[in-house]
Amino acid sequence: MANRPDTARPVVYVLNGPNLNLLGTREPHIYGAETLDDIAGSLEDRAIELGLDVDVRQSNHEGHLIDWLHEASATGAAAVLLNAGAYTHTSVALYDAIKAISVPVIEVHLSNPHTREAFRHQSYVGMAAKATIAGLGSLSYLLALEAVPRL
Ligand code: DQA
Repeated sequence: MANRPDTARPVVYVLNGPNLNLLGTREPHIYGAETLDDIAGSLEDRAIELGLDVDVRQSNHEGHLIDWLHEASATGAAAVLLNAGAYTHTSVALYDAIKAISVPVIEVHLSNPHTREAFRHQSYVGMAAKATIAGLGSLSYLLALEAVPRL
């Protein structure tokens, strides 16, 4: 991950929040059997076909996600795909960070939070993001990437 070939292709940041480092073993009936490295590999393959470059990162710390959103803006990223995990439902700071930058942010979820517990029905990320793709497992990430050249 964070494996950036030295090319001039537009860069898409793929930012993943808390507990997503455990994909593959974490509640696989909800989140699937693929690891984050598996998802990163699929995104890297498709990105090449789309003429893009992906920079896939994960952190369990809210501030890292905010710093990376700022970095995406400062470096002129083409877009950010953001799965903020549970911070989706709690973080006004992430809402503010998305609002503070002009890089398009697509909210991504493996599961569909709206079919789950009530506390997952509110998304601060979704209130600020350009679009949301949820409920399709790892395909949510791939479909979000497909949209980037058309933004
Ligand atoms: C998630 C959904 C969130 O509600 C949850 O806290 C996660 C994963 C998803 O991808 O389905 O950590 O973002």
